[in-house]
Amino acid sequence: MMKSDIGLIGLGTMGAMLALNIAEKGFKVSVFNRTTKTTREFSETAGPLSEMITPCESLEDLIATSKKPRAIILMVPAGTTVDEQIAALRPLLDNEDMIIDAGNANFHDTNRRAAEAVSAGTHFLGIGVSGGEEGARHGPSIMVGGSEASWNRVSHILVAISAKYDATPCATWMGEGGAGHFVKTVHNGIEYADMQMIAEIYGVMRDGMKLNTTECSEIFAGWNTGPLQSYLTGISAKVLAAKDHKTGQPMLDIIVDRAGQKGTGRWTAIEAQHLAAAIPVIEAAVTARNLSAQLEMRQNGENLFGSAPTILPEGSLSVDNLEAALIAGKVLCYTQGFALLSAANPVFGWSLPLPEIAKVWRKGCIIRSSMLNDMASALSQSPDRNLMFAPFFTNILNSNHNALRKVVATGITYGLPLPALASALSYFDMMRTSRSTANMIQAQRDFFGAHSFERFDEDGAHHGPWGSH
Ligand code: 6PG
Repeated sequence: MMKSDIGLIGLGTMGAMLALNIAEKGFKVSVFNRTTKTTREFSETAGPLSEMITPCESLEDLIATSKKPRAIILMVPAGTTVDEQIAALRPLLDNEDMIIDAGNANFHDTNRRAAEAVSAGTHFLGIGVSGGEEGARHGPSIMVGGSEASWNRVSHILVAISAKYDATPCATWMGEGGAGHFVKTVHNGIEYADMQMIAEIYGVMRDGMKLNTTECSEIFAGWNTGPLQSYLTGISAKVLAAKDHKTGQPMLDIIVDRAGQKGTGRWTAIEAQHLAAAIPVIEAAVTARNLSAQLEMRQNGENLFGSAPTILPEGSLSVDNLEAALIAGKVLCYTQGFALLSAANPVFGWSLPLPEIAKVWRKGCIIRSSMLNDMASALSQSPDRNLMFAPFFTNILNSNHNALRKVVATGITYGLPLPALASALSYFDMMRTSRSTANMIQAQRDFFGAHSFERFDEDGAHHGPWGSH
């Protein structure tokens, strides 16, 4: 029997789709799932691709049927399950064999696992895979972390299964250790922010303008042919158009307004704070999810304070204002994500390839959007320049920030919560204010703690004439 080119453990939705994708691209794949029934059902339903799939009922089987040096993909829940799986697998593997964690791992865990692999003389890659079920099956965006030599060993497979933008594969090596999972984490932070801003604009349409779901869907579908063209704009149009089979009602009206989260957005916010990187739009999006989960508390709040009079007076905002606000918000949220990637480099000893990251995100992943091609061009010219200052995006912001202000100001006036869009606007305003108010902070710090301050007219550390206080 011909041995498999690669092994895969974990036949949940993502693992199963990835295995079919690998098989379809002409690679033999050995698969194993903790529950044997799942493995059997998977191979029985793989159709013609089953020729390329070797179902294994034990880890020993998986090892025995895989070509040496082996590469085994783990697609199991992030966290302790990954460590348990590695512990079960390692004693069965040769030193040259490689484990590839393709789940949504915390990059700190990946850094640790990569270091453990190095000290044990073995091989480990941590790869971020984006695109959901559809992406895993037909071409995800793949962000790879680990040694370059390990990447080179499996790049032909990962490139083959990845999405292609024109002919360019959306699979790239990001750097050592947890670099791939860090990039995936930031991807998810941007995903949270983009989703939240879309939800806020939907709220303005639904509550402020009293548009029905069909009207909202048509607007989003129209936007999806312009500068806002993106996967998330497209699916928003689709979910707005969907009707519940049971009641015939718009699906969105049936769905409870309590958002779930597996934590990657939160990790992005936590890392940004560690790195002192400003990502307020992403932070606002995480906060909004946290607050959305407090449904009962929000209901109590409405009982106590009354709901805000959210209906906007006729003509306060146009649909074009909403589109322009979303364009500005989107530029600012991606800007913050890229700035966070840049801030990580000196701290983690990486050289994250920002233009390549923008390219890898152009197809296959959840945040794919036509803007990313322009971001890739801007970052190629100057990778560490904040995207706001790249002429192409400066122009976009100059054309759209007034609409963002109008939408946020109107929302605030009438009680429509727009936390992510408002954060984008405050970031924009702070970023164009040369004389900020932090002189007051410095004076206060010096007053109560003698922390010192700088003066405009003299070098060195200074103290104020605060006297005895
Ligand atoms: C992707 C998604 C994917 C998953 C997130 C959802 O890139 O394909 O980001 O990884 O949908 O884990 O995360 P939350 O459950 O936190 O929303």
